[in-house]
Amino acid sequence: MADIDPEIRSLVEQFRADVLTGLSQPQKTIPARWFYDHKGSELFEAITSLPEYYLTRTEIGILQGCLAEVASLVGPGRVVVEFGAGSMAKTPLLLDAVAPSAYVPIDISGEFLRESCAPLMARYPGLAIVPVEADFSAPVLLPSGAGTAGPLGFFPGSTIGNMEPEPAAAFLRTMRQTLGDNPMLLIGMDLIKDEQRLIAAYDDAQGVTAAFNCNLAARINRELGGTVPLDALAHRAVWNAALSRIEMHLEAMSAISFEVSGQPFSMRAGETIHTENSHKYSRASADELLARGGWEPVCRFSDQAEQFLVVLAKSGI
Ligand code: AVJ
Repeated sequence: MADIDPEIRSLVEQFRADVLTGLSQPQKTIPARWFYDHKGSELFEAITSLPEYYLTRTEIGILQGCLAEVASLVGPGRVVVEFGAGSMAKTPLLLDAVAPSAYVPIDISGEFLRESCAPLMARYPGLAIVPVEADFSAPVLLPSGAGTAGPLGFFPGSTIGNMEPEPAAAFLRTMRQTLGDNPMLLIGMDLIKDEQRLIAAYDDAQGVTAAFNCNLAARINRELGGTVPLDALAHRAVWNAALSRIEMHLEAMSAISFEVSGQPFSMRAGETIHTENSHKYSRASADELLARGGWEPVCRFSDQAEQFLVVLAKSGI
């Protein structure tokens, strides 16, 4: 035990606590952040290039079209702070456009951070790249020094959509706190569209999203000594119109009983574990959420089919 990295141990313990608590609720729920073990991160990467998963390629297209304008609006010399380890497909587009004084990716997984920073360091030898290993849902102390212009936060991918409106607004305020004086934010938000397209994006023909969802149950078995009968669970993606979100669930196809860390659980046939929310926005609800989070839109960019929204915002009230 003595040579187990305390950080890794505490992460497993957090996972255990979240799973045991979540499975004890009337509607069983597990927070979406636990999708991303090594296997889950690989499956998510595979999702981003699926024909049905329009989000990633649409956002990249929007960024390619808008970053020159963004650069002129934000000016050079800002510290770019990315919430989540940089995606190789998006971060270089931004760094190329805005001539930052430093790049600070914040991610909870140090391993993932180092893996994604190495190619960026090779590509931008003159740029200060300062990875910060931290849970960005709480305020993070940024390395001081670089730049006089305020920082530019980068939060692409509609990752904000994983959070319910209240925590999302609180998180946007936390971001502002982390960024400090005179901050700006470039954020990606997925737009409401017809239900069929939304469902297809979260229930693809090749079953990659199903594998991504089911991997969470497999991870419980791997890491928490679980006996979840994986064959009895089915992937479900449903559009919750009232709350404007896609929900992912794992549905029990028959009555099942299993253990996690020695604790017994059972599910009736048809009962589900709610594994993810992916909120979708209108332009109005996007503005409203940003306002509640203390941000004022400066410019909004979308694709021709209005599938996805990228917003440049400045600090509001
Ligand atoms: C990474 C949270 C933006 O909600 O679309 C993809 C995760 N889940 N397919 C999303 C996800 C199922 C994704 N985010």
